[in-house]
Amino acid sequence: MKGNSYYSRRLHSLLGVIPLSLFIVEHMLTNFAAVEGGPQGFKDAVAFLNGLPLVFFLELFGIWLPLLFHGVYGLYIAYQSNINTGQFQYGRNWAFALQRISGVITFIFVVWHVYQTRFQVAVGNVTHEQLGSSMHDIANNPFFFAFYVVGVVAATFHFANGMWAFLVSWGITVGPRAQRVSSYIWMGVFVIVTAMFLASLAAFRGDEFKEASAAIDAVRSLVNIG
Ligand code: HEM
Repeated sequence: MKGNSYYSRRLHSLLGVIPLSLFIVEHMLTNFAAVEGGPQGFKDAVAFLNGLPLVFFLELFGIWLPLLFHGVYGLYIAYQSNINTGQFQYGRNWAFALQRISGVITFIFVVWHVYQTRFQVAVGNVTHEQLGSSMHDIANNPFFFAFYVVGVVAATFHFANGMWAFLVSWGITVGPRAQRVSSYIWMGVFVIVTAMFLASLAAFRGDEFKEASAAIDAVRSLVNIG
C-alpha cells in the first residue's frame, strides 16, 4: 500500500507542473488579452484556443482530468497532513501550511469559477463570444470581485510555492543556496502572475465590456419578447 501512495504522490506532484502550471500561465495570458486588446482582443484569444485541433481532448487530458486528480488527491493529502505540520522547521513551516490552505481555497474557487464560466458555455447558456460580457457582470459584482481576488491570489501562490517545493522534492534544487535563489524567483513569478490576473479582472469591469453586455441583453430581451 505504501508503494501505491508513493506513486500517487509522485503523480500528484508531476501533474501540478505538467500540465497544471502550464495551464495557469496560459489562462492568465488569455485573460490578459482583455487588458491589451479589449473585448475584441479577448474574443480573439478565446476563439484561437477553441479553434485548436482536438480541443475537447486537449481540455480533457490537459485540464479537467489532471485538475480533478490533483484537486481531489490534494484535499486528501491536506486532510492527512494536519497532524504532521509540527515536524517542519523555520520559514518553510509556514510555506508548508500555506500550500495546503491555498490548495483548499483554490479548489473551492475553481469549482465555482468553472461552473460560472466553462459549464455555462457547455450547457448553452453563454456562447464563447459572450464570455467577455459575462466576466464583466461577474467583475462588477462586489461579492464575486472579492471572491475572484482571493481565488486568484490563492491559486497563483499555490502554483508558485508548489513549483518551489516540486524542485526540492524532485532533487533539482538541492543545496540551501539553490533553494534560496529559487524562492526569490518563484516569489517574483507569484507577484507578476497575480498582478496580470488582477489587471485582467480590473479590465473586465470597464465600460467597453459593458457595451457588449448591454447589446447581448438587448438581443436576449428581443428574443424573449418575440
Ligand atoms: C482574473 C481571473 C480569471 C478570469 C477573468 C477567468 C476567466 C475564465 C473564463 C472566461 C473561462 C471560460 C473559458 C472558455 O470557456 O473558453 C475560464 C475557465 C477556466 N478557468 Fe478561469 N479565470 C480567472 C482565474 C482563474 C484561476 C486563478 C484559475 C485557477 C487555476 C482558473 C481556472 C479555470 C479553469 C480550470 C477553467 C476551465 C478551462 C477549460 O475548460 O477550458 N481561472 N476562466
